[in-house]
Amino acid sequence: VIGRLNHIAIAVPDLDAAAAAYRDVLGVDVSEPTPLPEHGVTVRFVDLPNTRIELLQPLGEDSPIASFLERSGAGGLHHVCFEVKDVVAARDALKAAGARPLGEPKLGAHGKPVLFLHPGDLSGVLVELEQA
Ligand code: CO
Repeated sequence: VIGRLNHIAIAVPDLDAAAAAYRDVLGVDVSEPTPLPEHGVTVRFVDLPNTRIELLQPLGEDSPIASFLERSGAGGLHHVCFEVKDVVAARDALKAAGARPLGEPKLGAHGKPVLFLHPGDLSGVLVELEQA
């Protein structure tokens, strides 16, 4: 059911500071900030040979990562995203296997259907499924 690791999302309180750290400490290229108001985040991308890291900063009043940052102020791992062929088929298979989907599939930050799974079933990490 699960395919490639598409991205790792890291919530940060200060996007520019995070980008500077990734650039200066790890020596990687970081994209310019991209605001995604409909998803409540501003994102900067780090492209690696085998996956992508997304640095997320809250944007607007109802950001889905605001409460996460209230709990872990320095930032941290917010979610990992795996590719699936068909998000509805994956939902049904994973639900039957004991995972708890969070809501219904919807259009994600990359314009593709996504679904999130409850972190309580997956070692405390929020999992995103993205239709490839
Ligand atoms: Co994501």
